Order: sequence, then structure tokens, then C-alpha cells
Amino acid sequence: MNHLLKLGDLTEKEILSILNLADQLKYEKKHNIEHHHLKGKTLGMIFAKSSTRTRVSFEVGMYDLGGSALFLSNANTQLGRGEPVEDTARVLSRYLDGIMIRTFDQEEVETFAKYGSIPIINGLTDYAHPCQVLADLMTIREVKNTFKGIKMAFIGDGNNMANSLIVGGIKVGMEVAVACPDSYKPDPDIVKWASESGRFTLTNDIFEAAKDADVLYTDVWASMGEEDEIEVRKKAFAGYQINKELMTAAKPDAMVLHCLPAHRGEEITADVFEAHADEIFEEAENRLHAQKAVMVKLMKD
Ligand code: CP
Ligand code: NVA
Repeated sequence: MNHLLKLGDLTEKEILSILNLADQLKYEKKHNIEHHHLKGKTLGMIFAKSSTRTRVSFEVGMYDLGGSALFLSNANTQLGRGEPVEDTARVLSRYLDGIMIRTFDQEEVETFAKYGSIPIINGLTDYAHPCQVLADLMTIREVKNTFKGIKMAFIGDGNNMANSLIVGGIKVGMEVAVACPDSYKPDPDIVKWASESGRFTLTNDIFEAAKDADVLYTDVWASMGEEDEIEVRKKAFAGYQINKELMTAAKPDAMVLHCLPAHRGEEITADVFEAHADEIFEEAENRLHAQKAVMVKLMKD
């Protein structure tokens, strides 16, 4: 494993090895056990989109690991003014030990990896959000102790979160169901790949997806960059909501997860969100531990 560009590039063994290390790093942080695996290393964090969790967890994560992190916004780098990715990647590779990128086009992240000579981490593209899903898998395993026989249902837009949850969930052995409108399906190649597992369902029916689920997951109806589509999307996604009624279709002890930020009253009701706030904020915390594990795996000498 040289980069984290998408979960499809990782084996089940590699994913589990990241999760095991994340559990260990979480334990060490809670018990104030020093874990300076990346002493003297610097991570560059390139952001073409907004972020709270990703930015803060990577920056704090590098600090915890004995290294440092550099925030590089597209608003004030030459990359944001059109300097080619191919050149930026080669320049930054000479200063930094790793790069985390949040941008629009998955191709940009792949190009960074092709032209750079240091590990590249996808901090979210329109196609994938692998760091989030590693934290999600960590959270699910903490509560359910296993992935085998666990059903995860994703309700809403077939977006970057849906794509990565399908790939991550299927790779670790879960059953995955996605309920979305026809015009907002996940990536067709991912759907085809997941369907071959025999553990994947794609439907318009939120109750079919949620039936006997152990984990219910949702995300915003309009992702970053789609803000001008919100009125059209509000109509298309009406009904694609995690609410009390939908919870009755899932198992009584079902978890509810959300990558955040959440829009109460749209993809999830406020009552269900608050009833599952402990799980959702543990999930947010786990971004820190899971990403530290990714950085150690990729950047440690
Ligand atoms: N879930 C997530 O990636 O949050 P941010 O957009 O705040 O980084
Ligand atoms: N689908 C959302 C996820 C945010 C973490 C977006 O891309 O905006």
C-alpha cells in the first residue's frame, strides 16, 4: 500500500490491518501513551473544498504522531490558479513526506499519485471518501464486534459516501443495501462489482433497504459543489430520510451513522439524530484514530 486513493485499491487484509492499528492508537491516546511514529515528518493538506473534521483530525493526528501538518488552501496556492497538478505534485514531493487532498475530481488525486513521489491520501473527492469509511468501519466493529453477518443500509444520494461505503462494506464481509432515487445511483462500476458479491442490494425502497439492518447510514442530499441543485434535489430525495418510522424496519439495536455535517429535517430527523448522537460523534472522533493509522502505514520509515 503506497497511497490511499480509494478503498477499491485495498485488500480486506490491508483494511483490517489499518483498523487494528487505529484501535491501538485510540487506546494509546486515551492512556497518554506516546506514539511518535512520524517524528520530524510533514503532511501537506490540500483543500479545494471546505472541511471541519478532515482538516482538524489530520492536523491533530500529525501532531499526536510527532510530526506537523501544513494547511494548503486552493484559495491561496498556485494550484488554485491553474498550476498543473503534475508540476505541483513533483514540487511538493521535495518538501513534504505525505499529501492529503480534498478536491472535486478523483482524477486529480490519481494524477498526484502518478507524478508525486510521496504517499497521497484522498481526503474526499466527488467519487470517494475512503478516510471517512475507515472511521465508519472502525465504529461499526467497536459496537458490533464483527463485520460478518452485519447489514448496513445507506439511505439517500448515491454519492462519494455511498460509493466508499459499498466498497468498504463489501470488502470486509458485510451485507450492504442502498436505497436511492433512480437518477442518483452510485457509480455503475461499483454497483456492478458489489453485485457480484451476492451481498449487495440497490433499491428505491427505503424500507426494503433498512429491513433488519444493523447499521443505518445517511448523508446530505446535496454534496459540496452541488449547492445550486438543492431545490431539485429536495424534490428528488423527499422520503429518503432516516426517521422513527424507518427505524422500526431495522433491528431494534440498529446503529445510526452519519459522516456529518447533517441536515436535520432532510436526510435525518432531529429526534433520530439525537437518539444516536453518541454513535455519530464517536464515529467523528474515530476519523482521528483511523487517519493516524493510515498515515503511520503510509509514511513511517
Ligand atoms: N465528514 C467529513 O469529511 O467532514 P468534513 O467535511 O468536516 O471534513
Ligand atoms: N457527500 C458529502 C460528504 C461530506 C463529508 C460531500 O461530498 O459534501
